[in-house]
Amino acid sequence: RGGRLEVITGPMFSGKSEELMRRVRRAEIAGVKVAVISHSLDTRAGSSSITSHIGVRIPAVAVGDVDALAEVVRRDDFALIAIDEAQFFGPALVPVVTDLVAAGATVIVEGLCVTFDGRPFEPLPTFMALAEDVLKLTAVCTICGRDAVFHRRLADTGMGATEIDPSHVGGLESYVARCRTHVDS
Ligand code: ADP
Ligand code: TMP
Repeated sequence: RGGRLEVITGPMFSGKSEELMRRVRRAEIAGVKVAVISHSLDTRAGSSSITSHIGVRIPAVAVGDVDALAEVVRRDDFALIAIDEAQFFGPALVPVVTDLVAAGATVIVEGLCVTFDGRPFEPLPTFMALAEDVLKLTAVCTICGRDAVFHRRLADTGMGATEIDPSHVGGLESYVARCRTHVDS
């Protein structure tokens, strides 16, 4: 019996982590065995938790690549696997997740679907195509208050946005949410 793939995506500050935490809490109340995985590249909150921009946190296992992720989820018979910051794992995450779903798990993949220069950020677009359920969130444009689909980086490192690099890790000090009209402002 196959499982289920759920995607939570959008730009930075759109509430992706809050929604992931809400679903994890509900599953834990229901007695479901849950694995919460984060990427060790994002050290904003220390390596063993997921933290939202307003500071709410839940425990997580931090791993550095998809092989380490597969190793963690093999340790037990998890019914729900929640993956935070999925964009940091790159396209190699797709076969690992589809195998877990085929084996019967529910997998929630949470991450950015757009880079800071406004391009699709794999692997989230692929997961959106393959999922039973997709929640696409928006942030609030801090110039006009409309729905923000994009975000802008305040300091440009000169690197391509899809290159996964520790210098791109950041929050409110490095990124701002932007609507379509103000994406270049
Ligand atoms: P994400 O994981 O999508 O980056 P979080 O769940 O960590 O988002 O944080 C969402 C919270 O960030 C919101 O509930 C709000 O309190 C705060 N926030 C800060 N700036 C913005 C913004 N421009 N638009 C929306 N929420 C914002
Ligand atoms: P968030 O979705 O929880 O706000 O976190 C997104 C993380 O991704 C944050 O550490 C900044 C980083 N990032 C990149 O590495 N590349 C990008 O293009 C963008 C927009 C963010």
